[in-house]
Amino acid sequence: MATHARTKARGVLIAGNWKMNHGKAETAGFFEKLPRLPLEDKPGAASGLRVCLFPPALSLGTAIESARARAFNAFEFGAQNVHWEAKGAYTGELSAPMILEAGGTWALVGHSERRQHFAETDENVGRRAQGALSQGLNVMLCIGETRAEREGAATAAVIARQLLGALVPFANYPYKQGFSDMLKARKLVIAYEPVWAIGTGLTATPEQAEEAHVFVRNELAQHFGAEIAAQSQILYGGSVTPDNIATLLTCENIDGALVGGASLKPEGFAALILAGKSAL
Ligand code: PGA
Repeated sequence: MATHARTKARGVLIAGNWKMNHGKAETAGFFEKLPRLPLEDKPGAASGLRVCLFPPALSLGTAIESARARAFNAFEFGAQNVHWEAKGAYTGELSAPMILEAGGTWALVGHSERRQHFAETDENVGRRAQGALSQGLNVMLCIGETRAEREGAATAAVIARQLLGALVPFANYPYKQGFSDMLKARKLVIAYEPVWAIGTGLTATPEQAEEAHVFVRNELAQHFGAEIAAQSQILYGGSVTPDNIATLLTCENIDGALVGGASLKPEGFAALILAGKSAL
């Protein structure tokens, strides 16, 4: 682990996952209270600071309008899940064209809560990632082991399986090349979120997080080559707060954070963004 502040050549991405919190009124209120931030006047370059928010789908339009009204033009927005088809008989799902039309440019896929509570499999998550990327969305692919898996020394096997289960090429699409390009352009970003650290207040130590990030980067190197792996952005998630983010971001292989609870309050999200900027 690097113990000193360092230049983040891959840039830093700070993302907020609101989960099933903040309807339209609360979303508008969040943006009214969000402190002014020293950000660019447009979405950050993939090599600078990027800020991304995943509100509930019904609040996405309000979030985009509210951000625009207060000139938070650096913010990018996305949906918390996405289906692989553009439309069809898939009750309860959202498609990439719908998210794009609403002004979103990102989708989360494979969040552990989708895997745990809604039985999404690696293959299902992979289809969502592939479908969304091929239809023009950026994708944040979440992976991470449970407490039992960590205690059973299965962390590496689980995160490799989740990563490759989603990214291994399917027969009828040039996914490998596609994924390489997307990883390189940081349109496909990996979020390592140990399940035991999500919403529990038990953050992984910087050493634990860095170890997992190095492992993920090595897996990417094996499958996509060292150059792509070196350019890929890997975020950490799991009880990240304004108090612990700076230390996590000193780690050489941690390129940002995906934050749940601490992103719900305007001051908290602002503090996380400022920490991301300081880490650049
Ligand atoms: P948390 O959630 O920050 O509340 O632990 C992180 C996530 O689930 O993305």
